[in-house]
Amino acid sequence: MVMEKTLAIIKPDATARNITGKILSRIEEEGFTVKAMKRVRLARADAECFYAVHRERPFYGSLTSFMSSGPVVVLCLEREGAIAKWREVMGATNPANAAEGTIRKLYAVDLERNSVHGSDAPETAAVEVAFFFSGLELV
Ligand code: RTP
Ligand code: MG
Repeated sequence: MVMEKTLAIIKPDATARNITGKILSRIEEEGFTVKAMKRVRLARADAECFYAVHRERPFYGSLTSFMSSGPVVVLCLEREGAIAKWREVMGATNPANAAEGTIRKLYAVDLERNSVHGSDAPETAAVEVAFFFSGLELV
């Protein structure tokens, strides 16, 4: 497997419930290196830009409202096969379909408030990491 970087976000439903630490522990237990991390509050326009691939979807307005409703913690994670591995650890988008032990099964509230984000391919991972972090911030 090849070393990869992926972009993770601990979403507003999770920061509001003070489970940032639990999710960070899981990230480290699963063998990811945290290359960069910060807690920020996205403006609505930031969330719209970040999720622009979904702009034609019916849930775009609700999603971008939710993502700008409170603080998020954004992280660049590195390990072998990081993109697929992080999506495996997150679990299915809808927690009702998420496998036992996944973060979304353990913590997600519903389909929208599903606690974490992960990049879905190498191309999107590169764009998403660069959206939040400069090269100097990846250490
Ligand atoms: P993410 O991008 O956040 O890692 O999630 P994902 O790949 O598993 O799911 P995606 O299809 O990219 O959807 C992005 C986020 O939009 C919200 N969503 N709402 N109401 C709905 O039908 C609906 N579908 C998706 C979720 O917060 C999802 O994670
Ligand atoms: Mg996605």
